[in-house]
Amino acid sequence: MTISLNEITVGSAKFIRYKSKPTMLLYTKAGEVFALSAACTHLGCIVKWDEARSMIVCPCHAALFDVQGNVLAGPAPSPLPSIR
Ligand code: FES
Repeated sequence: MTISLNEITVGSAKFIRYKSKPTMLLYTKAGEVFALSAACTHLGCIVKWDEARSMIVCPCHAALFDVQGNVLAGPAPSPLPSIR
């Protein structure tokens, strides 16, 4: 699967299914691109991108992740896996 960066606005996220799994593509304001699982590692809710705070949030139990998927707060037991 190929996705052009032109399909993602800088500072935003694009949600796709990759290999049948929910996947989040992040294009940060710093020009970095990350592909992460969009399934929260707590109970599997689909995470959202909070552009104003530049962090990933889980709407179910408020877990917070940084742009690399690392857990910042909340009940998530592990980072969002990177997709390669
Ligand atoms: Fe994401 Fe619980 S499912 S914090």
